[in-house]
Amino acid sequence: MQDLFAPPPPPPDLAHIEQLRRALHEHAHRYYVLDEPSIADVEYDRLFQELQAIEAQHPELVTPDSPTQRVGGRPLDQFVSVRHVVPMLSIRTETDTEASGAQNFDARVRRELGLNELAPVVEYVAEPKFDGLAMSLRYEHGVLVQAATRGDGEMGEDVTQNIRTIGQIPLRLPAGVPEILEVRGEVYMRRDDFETLNEQQRERGQKTFVNTRNAAAGAVRQLDPGIAAQRPLSFFAYGLGAVTPAAAGGPEFGTHYDMLQALKSWGFPVSALVGIAQGATELIAYYNSIGVQRDRLGFDIDGVVYKVNSLALQRRMGFVAREPRWAVAHKFPAQEQQTQVLGIDVQVGRTGKLTPVARLKSVFVGGVNVTNATLHNLFELRRKRVRVGDTVIVRRAGDVIPEVVAVVAPTLGTDASALPGPRVPYVPNFRMPRQCPICGSAVVREKTEVNHRCTGGLFCAAQRKQAILHFAQRRAVEVEGLGEKLVDQLVDGNVIRTLPDLYRLGLSSLASLDRMADKSAQNIVKALEKSKQTTLPRFLFGLGIRHVGEATAKELARHFGNLDAIMDASEEQLLQVNDIGPIVAKSLRTFFDQPHNREVVEQLRACGVTWSEGPPAPVAPTPLSGKTFVITGTLPTLSRDEAKDLIEAAGGKVAGSVSKKTTFVVAGTEAGSKLTKAQELGVAVLDEAGLKELLNGGS
Ligand code: IVH
Repeated sequence: MQDLFAPPPPPPDLAHIEQLRRALHEHAHRYYVLDEPSIADVEYDRLFQELQAIEAQHPELVTPDSPTQRVGGRPLDQFVSVRHVVPMLSIRTETDTEASGAQNFDARVRRELGLNELAPVVEYVAEPKFDGLAMSLRYEHGVLVQAATRGDGEMGEDVTQNIRTIGQIPLRLPAGVPEILEVRGEVYMRRDDFETLNEQQRERGQKTFVNTRNAAAGAVRQLDPGIAAQRPLSFFAYGLGAVTPAAAGGPEFGTHYDMLQALKSWGFPVSALVGIAQGATELIAYYNSIGVQRDRLGFDIDGVVYKVNSLALQRRMGFVAREPRWAVAHKFPAQEQQTQVLGIDVQVGRTGKLTPVARLKSVFVGGVNVTNATLHNLFELRRKRVRVGDTVIVRRAGDVIPEVVAVVAPTLGTDASALPGPRVPYVPNFRMPRQCPICGSAVVREKTEVNHRCTGGLFCAAQRKQAILHFAQRRAVEVEGLGEKLVDQLVDGNVIRTLPDLYRLGLSSLASLDRMADKSAQNIVKALEKSKQTTLPRFLFGLGIRHVGEATAKELARHFGNLDAIMDASEEQLLQVNDIGPIVAKSLRTFFDQPHNREVVEQLRACGVTWSEGPPAPVAPTPLSGKTFVITGTLPTLSRDEAKDLIEAAGGKVAGSVSKKTTFVVAGTEAGSKLTKAQELGVAVLDEAGLKELLNGGS
């Protein structure tokens, strides 16, 4: 009810409203696109709330480009169709994943332009092929008025409400932009945002997304913009649709590259990976270089796109059907493929963990033939409802173990005749074995755990093999040449049963193994001898104690100084160590309380394995001690592992996620939400040069 005696709201101060909106647009651009905020989050929130309050009192003044409109409006019943004034084209795909993909394209371009061998090279722009969905953003007088999906290229769907919630997409452009401007680009989801989203979906018992593209498409097609607003999306601009013609005062670009630079200056995110390439040779170099970086990027790409740079040449070449002759997509080997599950086996890992593994009809994915893919654990397997005979999507990205992502066609009710053996009309659900398939010991699962484990310990050959490989790896004591095949032979042939047996291996027992030349046997003996001189953290890490990774081993060694002190430390004493919590403390205690584990340590010492011991190290012996780093994005010269090694060698720690405890975030190109988080929390950010300076003793 209206209070007739209340004073009327003050007349709106239009200039102030405009000032607030301008400031909020500017800060949102600095924050989401440039990753360079100049005010604290609380200050941004304050300005935002002030504007919200004024708009609440004067709803008639709310404009569609107001920063307050990003939060998502009312749910829709359906999307409205919109016609694209300039059709949204697709690109011809070069599926040949060899260098010839680039050569074929260049040859075609030259032929169509009538260039002979003597004519100069053609200049191209090369871009990543982002794996999301195409979007057309229409701005009129600098204000976002419509966002539409590609649809069939002629007609798309109006998804403006949802697209407004994307922080990287400007709602309003700076003065001087063309009156009509349609920006085309890709809406996608970053990998870390995807992981977080799936984690949340899992916690809420909701369906997880198969990949970043599906997650992005799902968010864009949400009828409830409130839900879309909670799904973190990103955007890269790569082209134009309808634009005010030059004759009517619009812009005139000479090249595609210049156009991208203009888009960038108007506030659109343009990938830092976009480059200019002269001729086929540089296209091939680009393809290879992006291929190498692919797995390290914060987002999925499925190839690269080559475009003739000169817009005049583009016009000369024109189109065939719906595809421009001047552009091509050159794909990378697919990271997802479909295949059939032939069986489900169980593998036993070093810690005794039982992992269900799908045996697959061989399929070429992520650049290799895959015949096995992990199903993680019984609960994941059940959630995905994977059964023998199903057709599934298998994913292999980079060095990551191939995994079954989802079932596309279940067995039940389908033709099961493709299965080996007799036709099975009904496939029973998979069950975890009660006994370890390797050693027959009991299999258990703790109530709070998702994993089943074998209780056999070193009695279990699987655990023994893995324990030996773990001990011998490069980051532990490093026994060069002691690989999986050799360890299989040694354990299966009962030549070694425990870690110390390694050092009792004689030349003759090694040389008598299958396919082992004298020379190789000598090399192994030498490598074993060399591995005896190690360091306490490497030795400790090598023991393979659950939850004791490299970083924890280093902390323990620094804190206690010698192994006996660690072996005898109580849980309370262990809890004093930096970053050691109750789970790790308990795990260490359990390990060293087992007489056979102590025996292993004693025997290793007796075999001559040594490391230097000393009193606990002083608190600040190294420039970076006590400092925690998070590395994100691609650094110009250092790989992540190299940066990590350098930081740790200087006494620093490297963590996976940003928190209040993080001292520095080291950010490279295409750094994403970790960088954003750092800025939110006010954590200092370094580039590679800054890190190197710090390592050299700067502050
Ligand atoms: S250009 C005239 N550039 O690939 C060519 N497309 O069929 C118009 N895509 O659905 C597209 N990254 O969403 C272009 N750097 C890039 C791209 C890109 C991804 C997608 C686009 C479209 C498909 C091409």
